Amino acid sequence: MVKQRIKHEEIIPGRPLPFSIYDDDGNLLLTEGSVIESDFQLNTLLERGLYCYRLSRARREESPQTPVISYPFETIDEIYTGLNLLLGRSIADPKLPAKILKLCSKLQDACEHDTDACLGMIAFGHYYKYPIMHSIHTALVCKTVLKRLGWLPEQRLMPMAAAMTMNISMIELQDKLYSQRAPLSGKQKVEILDHPGRSVEMLEKCGVRDELWLHTIIQHHELLDGSGYPSGQKEDSIVQSSRVVTLGDVYGARISNRSYRKPILPTDALRDFFVNKGQCLDQTMSKILIKNLGLFPPGSFVELSNGEIAVVTRVGKDARHPEVASVVGANGKRLSKPAVRNTAAAPFEIKKILTKNEAGIEVNRYQLWGYMRPEALSIRFD
Ligand SMILES: [Fe+2]
Repeated sequence: MVKQRIKHEEIIPGRPLPFSIYDDDGNLLLTEGSVIESDFQLNTLLERGLYCYRLSRARREESPQTPVISYPFETIDEIYTGLNLLLGRSIADPKLPAKILKLCSKLQDACEHDTDACLGMIAFGHYYKYPIMHSIHTALVCKTVLKRLGWLPEQRLMPMAAAMTMNISMIELQDKLYSQRAPLSGKQKVEILDHPGRSVEMLEKCGVRDELWLHTIIQHHELLDGSGYPSGQKEDSIVQSSRVVTLGDVYGARISNRSYRKPILPTDALRDFFVNKGQCLDQTMSKILIKNLGLFPPGSFVELSNGEIAVVTRVGKDARHPEVASVVGANGKRLSKPAVRNTAAAPFEIKKILTKNEAGIEVNRYQLWGYMRPEALSIRFD
């Protein structure tokens, strides 16, 4: 391990520390995840000298198994790239099962590191190929809900793997449907109805043998009231892992933008789970998801009562009053950097939730959630 002096830009007041910090003598001052509340506190500490311990580059290359701090967005982007490569292969890859499980494990770690930031990516929309991002967002919902249901990290891997690979047999069609305005053709309808079975066949050819993984995929479009496909199974005949994949699948699809319809606001999609889809989706799981996402899910744009436009960054303890970061001031001008607001305080109460188009602004997720881009720090985290 190498002791390195921490620079001002590596720590953002009000955000969890991405590493433990020490004084010049090596005494631990604050552990990873602690929060320095203000700029004043930070500057006072920095004047005394703050340090952290990092693996040297050579050591990290020698010891790839050693856990290192991972910024969630960088990890998630690596997972997008990795999954895209794996699902895009036209020939059976015998290493696919192990590679998918590794991606799931990385996703769990990123989510554990910062759940709100990872869940924020679901509402944030798609800046990568839709079928790939959608599969990963569904896996994030699986991880979040199953954790609350008491599933252990290793147990959660198979449902997450199922979420990542559920549509492996129709990636191209799914990509096309994302922007297709015309109604489904007869051929497309058949392909959709058959895709759970064909996905399982493709995965078996790649060496997937895990029953839970495969069975979850077979049932990922079955609905509790029997209106799903391919078999119209009902209630208890649908396994828990499939129910959670269905929930994530429906939620992610509903809030995504399409060329033929506007995205449904996350709050409306979640409400719809009880009003219109109450008979189809597992209600216990729906409640858990809503509890984790809050009334204003991370990644949502909101207008505050003082006229500012903000992005929800953290659910917090009170679902009605999440933490937000303002990106546009009350005068309509973009702020030079996001300003954290307490929505329980009168001037910053949430007036309404906005679509991304209504907000009309591009934002920097690293800044919003208090992370510096690793390349900007000249540090490469694995
Ligand atoms: Fe599917």
